[in-house]
Amino acid sequence: MLQVSDTSLMAASESTASTRARVGGAVTRKAKLPDAVNIFELVNSLSGDGTLLRRSYAEICENVRDFTVAESESGVFLGCGALHLYGPHLAEVRSIVVKPEAKGQGAGGRLLRALLEEGEDQGVTSVCLFTRIPDFFFHFGFRVVDRTVLPDKIYKDCQNCPRLYACDEVAMARGPIPRIAVLGPSKFAEPELVKLQAGTITSHGAK
Ligand SMILES: CC(C)(COP(=O)(O)OP(=O)(O)OC[C@H]1O[C@@H](n2cnc3c(N)ncnc32)[C@H](O)[C@@H]1OP(=O)(O)O)[C@@H](O)C(=O)NCCC(=O)NCCS
Repeated sequence: MLQVSDTSLMAASESTASTRARVGGAVTRKAKLPDAVNIFELVNSLSGDGTLLRRSYAEICENVRDFTVAESESGVFLGCGALHLYGPHLAEVRSIVVKPEAKGQGAGGRLLRALLEEGEDQGVTSVCLFTRIPDFFFHFGFRVVDRTVLPDKIYKDCQNCPRLYACDEVAMARGPIPRIAVLGPSKFAEPELVKLQAGTITSHGAK
């Protein structure tokens, strides 16, 4: 059960009880592989300036079950968002975006609520994200946290990010800060030393 005191989650959950609910003319549903092209194009249209993390087409296909899409009643793709599961202690909202022409009509909020409900269904206790627009997420019960309390996220993405030391994103969480992490620094194997046998090198005078 999701351990959050914020009553807005209850309201959000109640309004997203079905997997295909209508809000402001938009519906949401779990993504399927044929959605991968739309997801790829929309997410990467905003990756150039760092608004969203770039995701390869292969990565989107591989993780398509993480994604929820929003579409019009006639089935036109409007946006997407993903929930990445680290474990029962933590999930992360990723790649949440609405097409420019669909902004401000409820689709983004509808996507986020669907992702939060999915986390609740999975028994996840805390949801995190990194963003440049914390104000949007305040609407949904997220609060700003120190990024160091989210080592799973750091080791999954930040370690390899070119903006590691120039990050302008805010870490946010909803629910209790996890007490455990499943990702951490990987141990690099010691380089194998070539063992020289005494007396085997003779070309430069060694014996
Ligand atoms: C952020 C985004 C997904 C919001 O989608 P949207 O469909 O425009 O949002 P909604 O219409 O559902 O708005 C829901 C609520 O959030 C508010 N809101 C929307 N965008 C906001 C923003 N950038 N900052 C603060 N509040 C915002 C709305 O006013 C609305 O509040 P209300 O319920 O009190 O009226 C969309 O603007 C987007 O795609 N942005 C570019 C990608 C991006 O930055 N993604 C986040 C990466 S972490």
